[in-house]
Amino acid sequence: MSELLRVLQIEDSECDAALIVRELEKTRYQVEWERVEDAAGMRAALAERAWDVIISDYYLPQFGAPAALGILLDSGRDIPFIVVSGRMGEDTAVEMMKAGAHDYLLKGKLARLGPAVERELRDAKSRRERRRAEEALAASEARFRALLESAPQGVIVVDQGHIALVNARTEEMFGYSRDELLGQTLDILLPERYRAAHLEHRRQYFAHPRTRPMGLGLDLLGQRKGGGEFPLEIGLSFVDQAGTQLALALITDITDRKRAEEHLRQAQKLESIGMLAGGIAHDFNNLLVGVIGNASLAQDLLPPGSPAGELLEAVVKTGEQAAHLTRQMLAYAGKGQFVVEPLNLSDLLPEMTGLVQPSISKKIALHLGLDQDLPPIQADRGQMQQVFMNLVLNAAEAIGSDAGMISVKTGVQDVDELYIRRNLEAELSPGRYVLLEVRDTGCGMDEATRARIFDPFFSTKFHGRGLGLAAVGGIVRGHGGAISVSSAPGKGACFTVLFPAAEGAAAVAQVAAQYATLGGTGTILVVDDERPVRDLARKVLERYGYKVLLADGGIAAINTFKRHPGDISLVILDASMPGMSGAETYPELRKVRPGVKILVSSGYSELETMKAFPGPRATGFIQKPYTSLGLAEKVRSAMA
Ligand SMILES: Nc1ncnc2c1ncn2[C@@H]1O[C@H](COP(=O)(O)OP(=O)(O)OP(=O)(O)O)[C@@H](O)[C@H]1O
Ligand SMILES: [Mg+2]
Repeated sequence: MSELLRVLQIEDSECDAALIVRELEKTRYQVEWERVEDAAGMRAALAERAWDVIISDYYLPQFGAPAALGILLDSGRDIPFIVVSGRMGEDTAVEMMKAGAHDYLLKGKLARLGPAVERELRDAKSRRERRRAEEALAASEARFRALLESAPQGVIVVDQGHIALVNARTEEMFGYSRDELLGQTLDILLPERYRAAHLEHRRQYFAHPRTRPMGLGLDLLGQRKGGGEFPLEIGLSFVDQAGTQLALALITDITDRKRAEEHLRQAQKLESIGMLAGGIAHDFNNLLVGVIGNASLAQDLLPPGSPAGELLEAVVKTGEQAAHLTRQMLAYAGKGQFVVEPLNLSDLLPEMTGLVQPSISKKIALHLGLDQDLPPIQADRGQMQQVFMNLVLNAAEAIGSDAGMISVKTGVQDVDELYIRRNLEAELSPGRYVLLEVRDTGCGMDEATRARIFDPFFSTKFHGRGLGLAAVGGIVRGHGGAISVSSAPGKGACFTVLFPAAEGAAAVAQVAAQYATLGGTGTILVVDDERPVRDLARKVLERYGYKVLLADGGIAAINTFKRHPGDISLVILDASMPGMSGAETYPELRKVRPGVKILVSSGYSELETMKAFPGPRATGFIQKPYTSLGLAEKVRSAMA
């Protein structure tokens, strides 16, 4: 079947048009044609369908080949345009060709028409193919660009050490514009101290190029415009393009990942020390109950003026120091005693100052600058004391035996995003905070020390345990606050602690200590798996006039309780026991007698411990280790 040839003729003579068609039909084409003779007709024909060729007479009554060619060019279509004329001078022909016609011939020589059309169709086809190829190339280039520009990594192509291509992410990461980077050496992106070594690496890489991550096991750093450094990761590949050696570097900014890793590391450290501290709280504290309790009981039993009194005093003191260490570790792990109440630091500090003063050299002036309009904070009183004592004692130790000054200040600090970025490494939400500042004129510290002071067991002191600031850090974290330090060797140190201000100006609870006569009557059931604890409790409670029953676990407790349901006025129940725990025993006791008074005891904080106790509230909580007086007081108020 012959191919279709769609011909648009611009011709006023029907006869001539027929002649032309006859001529075209001599070719291999099957001709379909239409004749128009003015501009409107031509426009309509172009709009209506596609044409393979346009054959135009030169002179028409109201139209002509130049105008027709103009219409075709305006339409933007690439259709071969051949001028056929009865009489046309050479000049006119040249002009038409210049204007964009593809050929011209005289009506007297129509035999040329067929071959001319065939040639023009061929040319038009190859023009179309070329155009399509160019468009495809442009589209592929645009797609490649779009992919490159949207890549989450920085892409840099390096041609013998010179930057040949970068993407948007690279500009963003390093802060340079593309124009500033292209043609530069890679040195511009490296901290100065690495440049020489990097040149050598580059040389070696191009000698034995292969695809690989760069600097495995090394911490690589990039340098931003203006000097800031950031950690990065680089993947390298190599392209040999027509003899040109190109290296492709894929760059990932790993600042966020590093930060997340550091947080995770800290969290894991906290968790493992927390477990250790938890174990110590249980075992060590129970032992301390035996030590401190028995010694204080023995003290009470001694006749006045006995020489053993001093020795027992020393036992109690040492035991209390051990309990203090345990408390520091528990605080670091966020498991310390934690009963929050609205507190005003400005009210609290003078009282606490009285407690530290005896431990501070007389040559050191302790100065308080307290804000009298301080909002309250939600905090644990004992832990606030721990923070204050640790900071002030450290300050005094930093001053040593010289004269010096410690200034303690309270105030209000409004924290916004800017403040957080400038001052704090910790995560803090914006808002109003209460500030506690402890500044000293002591020896100060260098950057390497400063970076580690909150680590547990880090100490630069001969007798230091390295637990003070670890505990402070744990307490501050537990209260939703933050701490920062500024210091330099020989320049003193300033610790700034922020605690979230309590909502509104809630009245500060004044918990008055209640001293009452501590003796009492009634039967008390002491449930504890540790023998020293049971023995001590019995001795203490009997001394204060109570009758005491003992049980070494949950099952024994329930059995004893069932046997004496009406007699027992109070149960002292250890929270953590092997087998049946305190929390499991608790509801069983309540089943036997719903109203029974139960005092829960534990080495863990009250908050932590009581989470495990379901149902009606316990009558009270007693923190281990306790002194005989402490126990008597708790029992007395529980029985009241
Ligand atoms: N005010 C300060 N001036 C200079 N250095 C300080 C100051 N406070 C703390 N440091 C440094 O931080 C370290 C850790 O302090 P931290 O209170 O945790 O432990 P410590 O005081 O050494 O021992 P301890 O467990 O008895 O408190 C100190 O050893 C000291 O190097
Ligand atoms: Mg200390």
